[in-house]
Amino acid sequence: MKAIKQLLLENKAWSESKLQLDQDYFKNMAKDQSPEYLWIGCSDSRVPESEITNSDPGQMFVHRNIANLVVHTDLNLLSVVQYAVEGLKVKHVIVCGHYNCGGIRAAMSNSSMGLLDNWVRNIKDTYALHEKTFSQISSESERVNKLVELSVLEQVKNLTHTSIIQKAWKDLNAPILHGWVYDLNTGLLKNLVTVAPGSNIDTPYRYQL
Ligand code: CO
Repeated sequence: MKAIKQLLLENKAWSESKLQLDQDYFKNMAKDQSPEYLWIGCSDSRVPESEITNSDPGQMFVHRNIANLVVHTDLNLLSVVQYAVEGLKVKHVIVCGHYNCGGIRAAMSNSSMGLLDNWVRNIKDTYALHEKTFSQISSESERVNKLVELSVLEQVKNLTHTSIIQKAWKDLNAPILHGWVYDLNTGLLKNLVTVAPGSNIDTPYRYQL
């Protein structure tokens, strides 16, 4: 593990290495940002979005929370989505889960963790929705990974239920929504779903805009 002082030293070395390749690297970077992607991922330290997609600073606008949830009362997430879509006009929104996610595992257990219970509760709702599917899977790790995938699909659906996305689809014909899952064992991403602007939205969630 790196000592905290080491982080600052590493930062200095990194900044110098960038300048060695391009004297104007930070000068240009500081001007503005126009990322093409909004990444909604898990806070897990093993899933660093820029690194696993080989992206540079400036390419990805990012929101991360425990188990990459899209919760309709989360002002933090909604503000990020609104600014990314309406301000930065990102072309793609990626919800990325990962197998063996601690948040998902917590949702499948019956132990209480205090405040966290309320956050994880959103995942429990997805679990309850598919309880029959889970009763047919005997392996615990397979059940966890199934819920990881089903939860990503649910979060993508939750995005389509926001007036932000519906308005953007109408006005800008963008963004395209993607549901991905990352495998910690292989370092590979898998596409679960792609939802294009204008796709069907469940009736109760459809706004007249
Ligand atoms: Co996780």
